[in-house]
Amino acid sequence: MKLQNIDVSHDHFHMARVADMALYLNSICGKSISKEEEDVMILSAFTHDLCDRKYTDVEKGLSELRTWLTSLPISSEQVLSVLHIINTMSYSKVTKYGYPQDLGKWTTAYHHVRVADLIDAYDIHRCYAYQEHAHPEMAEEEKWKAVIELFERRMLTQLDAYILPVCPYAEPIARSRHDQAVKAIEYLKGVYL
Ligand SMILES: [Fe+2]
Repeated sequence: MKLQNIDVSHDHFHMARVADMALYLNSICGKSISKEEEDVMILSAFTHDLCDRKYTDVEKGLSELRTWLTSLPISSEQVLSVLHIINTMSYSKVTKYGYPQDLGKWTTAYHHVRVADLIDAYDIHRCYAYQEHAHPEMAEEEKWKAVIELFERRMLTQLDAYILPVCPYAEPIARSRHDQAVKAIEYLKGVYL
């Protein structure tokens, strides 16, 4: 499946980091998941941004991804679960609609991919890279101001609202990333505001 106009902020390295973090969260959460659930979690991590409306038509992306997933040696239930997870896990979907109530046995996979994606969002330079992609017309100062605004409005509020209530065991690593981001944003505010 072709990566649709995806820039460095959401590339395969991001997907691999999300998969690694989801596996790590799985290892510390205190309960085991089946191989079937782990496969869904990893596939969701590696595909979760392929149908993002920032980069492609969502329905077209989901259709192409469904075709690819169907070619894999996994069950149709797993295919539908991956598509359901990636179509409902984004920060914007969760803040608008809440968590899906019909995840059943895929709930752990869903939250570990979702939280892993949020933890990767603490990367200041990744956020700047997206601004460069989305707003090449902006001056460097304006891009950094946009990064500051995005972090203060969204990334620095996600720990208490969307990580700890569901995955409290993620606190040490998530709070460490959060605290690093707070320091970086304070520095950037001193430079650009
Ligand atoms: Fe992502």
